[in-house]
Amino acid sequence: MTRIPLMAGNWKMNKTAAEGAAMVKDLWGRIQSLSGVEAAVCPPMTALHAVAQALQGSKIALGAQDIFWKEKGAYTGLISPLMLKDIGCKYVIVGHSERRGRFGTADASMTPELMTVFGDNDTTVNRKAQAALEHGLRPIICVGETLEERQAGNTDKVISDQLQKALQGLAADGDELVIAYEPVWAIGTGQVCDPTEADRVIAMMREVVKGCLGKETAEKMRLLYGGSVTPENAPAIMEQNAIDGVLVGGASLDAEKFASIVSAANA
Ligand code: PGA
Repeated sequence: MTRIPLMAGNWKMNKTAAEGAAMVKDLWGRIQSLSGVEAAVCPPMTALHAVAQALQGSKIALGAQDIFWKEKGAYTGLISPLMLKDIGCKYVIVGHSERRGRFGTADASMTPELMTVFGDNDTTVNRKAQAALEHGLRPIICVGETLEERQAGNTDKVISDQLQKALQGLAADGDELVIAYEPVWAIGTGQVCDPTEADRVIAMMREVVKGCLGKETAEKMRLLYGGSVTPENAPAIMEQNAIDGVLVGGASLDAEKFASIVSAANA
């Protein structure tokens, strides 16, 4: 089973519409000769339209960073699956640890009470993934353990638990669904997970997916690694057997760096 690697950039709360549009034009110029790899960018909501326009004629896919599960209604500030589809999104990140209120870096201004304003939990992640699939969007579901959970030896348990709850009741053909293993302690910290350990966890995740959605789906599904991916460490990550791509934060903001990461899939 060959799975086309997915190299996705999560811009988080960065870039205006004009900056985003300029960046993807620059990026496409750098990666257009590559084959056998799919690149995607996930700009903030306010830049989706401009970036969608700038991506016309390119093969870079567009993704959003979050979604609400209702189609429309009195939900101030939220964005529906229909809206994301309408604007040209193919992917949507679901359940990023920052939206679950699980931050890797100690930012003193983000107190535990403030973190919960983002509000994602296993149930909302499952609903969001379901809504995305029902509307023809491909969810990139994120799971990951905190440093405390890892140090307590609970990594595999935490990950399989998050995964089982996220996948509950989903009906998806393998390539419609993407899962990213993002250890919380590796996000934005410069502390990348050892590629062989990421590979081990991701291979374990594929077994969990098999149990939930069947062997065929599990073998088609792309499982990504995310957390402090850089042009320097991307080749070693992409060399691993079980890893089908990366979800990149900081290094995806720069066209040259992200292009170099995308090329690592092709090497
Ligand atoms: P990072 O973020 O690459 O900046 O560590 C990864 C992510 O949050 O997806």
